[in-house]
Amino acid sequence: MNYEKLLEEAKKASAAAYAPYSRFSVGAALLTASGEIFTGCNVENASYGLTICAERVAVTKAVSAGFREFEAIAVYAPTQEPISPCGACRQVLAEFGPDADVVMGNARGAYVVAKVKELLPGAFTLKTEL
Ligand code: THU
Repeated sequence: MNYEKLLEEAKKASAAAYAPYSRFSVGAALLTASGEIFTGCNVENASYGLTICAERVAVTKAVSAGFREFEAIAVYAPTQEPISPCGACRQVLAEFGPDADVVMGNARGAYVVAKVKELLPGAFTLKTEL
């Protein structure tokens, strides 16, 4: 799977964004280790803090379908600069794939790639031993 194709899926997914408050539509396309693609878009709420980002929608769709190993996630927004996932999404991505690539795209089709663990060094993990 090349990242241009994954980014195209993310762009298509952004068309379904529910963003009446920010008017900022985001799309994500998550590639699993076994080759499936799960897409997501941001879903806003009148109670703004309940908004869920495109990346977390894609992750929850994949996990709820039984897929937990991620190869890459492409994120698209119609911006000048490649979109950079928020801190909450980085933590959620780190739960399943610190080594996964994050493909950050923009309106011009340009993108940059960084690993989840590079975007969130020192992610929180629940260590229960004393
Ligand atoms: N948003 C995402 O969906 N992904 C990101 O990486 C950054 C922000 C959404 C949340 C909200 O609906 C809108 O973009 C503006 O913050």
